[in-house]
Amino acid sequence: MGHHRIVFLGPPGSGKGTAAMELSAALQVPHVSTGEMFREAIRRGGPLAETAKGFIDKGQLVPDEITVQIVRLWLDERGRERGFIFDGFPRTLAQAEAFERLLAERNLPLTAVLLLDVSEEEILERILGRLSCEKCGALYHVTRVRPKLEGVCDKCGGKLIKRADDTEETVRERLRWYEQLTMDVVRYYERQGLLTRVDGNGIKDHAVEKVMVLFGLVSRRARAS
Ligand code: AP5
Repeated sequence: MGHHRIVFLGPPGSGKGTAAMELSAALQVPHVSTGEMFREAIRRGGPLAETAKGFIDKGQLVPDEITVQIVRLWLDERGRERGFIFDGFPRTLAQAEAFERLLAERNLPLTAVLLLDVSEEEILERILGRLSCEKCGALYHVTRVRPKLEGVCDKCGGKLIKRADDTEETVRERLRWYEQLTMDVVRYYERQGLLTRVDGNGIKDHAVEKVMVLFGLVSRRARAS
């Protein structure tokens, strides 16, 4: 299998994390979520944690210099592996341009950019019901993607928690930043002919399956039959 260097774009709650995790397992390439990197830093504590938490809890973007720096460190450590799936990065035009330079210096061009399109009502419903595993990051939803045992992760037995930034007020603020800044990134990749739009509405399995089919991976339904 060739190297895949993929970016997942989409508004908050569009299912980027869900689809990126499944695709990462299927292609066996690392899943890199800048949001998860920040949450991990907050769990560990330290100077980055304080700064990042201030922005995240208000639904604002962490400054570009900090975000680009953590991505640069990741590329230096692991960029040469089998590829990557970035989820939630880049989110501003400045990040996209810095990312392009970092990738060009390392001769690691992107192979695909996916945009998950989802309506605003659907976003609120998903985010306000989201639960995630505090140990492995697996994602669930209180009514739509339920764990077998309430409050417990199916995959690792970890505790399921609600994210601190998943309030209605914060989600509206995150959506505002998405429209204001991240849509420029969507247009940037569209101009480069790299962007593929995926309709992310509907049930979880359908959205994930559409992504799998794009990468020539046999659909799970076909595999089961
Ligand atoms: P981040 O963690 O990236 O959050 P986000 O972009 O707001 O996206 P979400 O994680 O909320 O949603 P998602 O699209 O991954 O959806 P999910 O799969 O979980 O960033 C958090 C914060 O960190 C930002 O606000 C910012 O402050 C900071 N940050 C991160 N990156 C940054 C950057 N590059 N620059 C600056 N700051 C940055 O799904 C949502 C829910 O729906 C789940 O419950 C799931 O089970 C369910 N679900 C998923 N798919 C479906 C489906 N098809 N049908 C029904 N339910 C579904």
